[in-house]
Amino acid sequence: MNLASPKTEPKQKLLKNKTFLIETLYLIIIVIMTILIFADFIDTGFFLGPLRFSHWVGIIGAVFIGLFAPLFYYLKRRYPKQYKILINIHIFGFTTAFLLVSMHFAGQLSRPLQFYPDLGAGLALYIIVAIIVVTGYLFRYRPFKSKKGIMKPHFNRALHISLISGLYIVGIVHVLLNFFL
Ligand code: HEM
Ligand code: HEM
Repeated sequence: MNLASPKTEPKQKLLKNKTFLIETLYLIIIVIMTILIFADFIDTGFFLGPLRFSHWVGIIGAVFIGLFAPLFYYLKRRYPKQYKILINIHIFGFTTAFLLVSMHFAGQLSRPLQFYPDLGAGLALYIIVAIIVVTGYLFRYRPFKSKKGIMKPHFNRALHISLISGLYIVGIVHVLLNFFL
């Protein structure tokens, strides 16, 4: 089976790569947005129906991640000619999911002290998602490729993929702890 492998650009062409520039800007905006929510400049604690806005965005982001990860794995092998569109949905879809879970995360961390959550599975989950996003970015674009090979791309790929089982396990524990136990 012909599995298209990701095209990574040589360093000198990186600044001409539109998806690299958009993705980098997107990640910077996510970091700024997360800090603004954390510092209470943006409110995500208002109610939307039965739940707070910050929970809705967490749920939507997590559902997308949980469903699209296996779907991408399947579609990439089933439709190898559609690889380009699939990897773009992968990158920008998961980055949008990261934006949503970052809003949920920062919304939780900015709660008033008397209502502060017990940090646990959710915090671990956020660290896992963040590492998956960063390693995906480093593997795809290799911005720090060095002649000595310090940033070994396969290290990032291995981490990116191996952490996904942790994502499901900790994710399920987080949902069970907060909704059912
Ligand atoms: C990748 C996805 C998610 C991340 C990174 C995340 C992160 C967090 C964090 C850091 C907290 C603070 C408490 C803790 O550390 O456990 C939290 C609390 C919470 N999360 Fe999530 N979460 C995610 C998905 C979800 C989903 C899918 C749901 C609902 C089904 C959910 C519901 C809640 C609730 C209800 C709380 C409040 C707990 C309390 O009041 O003590 N989260 N989340
Ligand atoms: C929560 C977020 C993410 C999840 C759950 C996730 C999941 C996955 C999975 C399951 C694969 C393995 C696909 C396979 O072997 O067929 C993969 C590969 C990959 N991911 Fe992600 N990913 C995420 C975010 C990202 C981001 C943000 C980027 C880039 C900016 C990225 C770039 C890549 C690349 C380049 C590959 C290799 C693709 C290939 O071998 O064809 N990922 N990811």
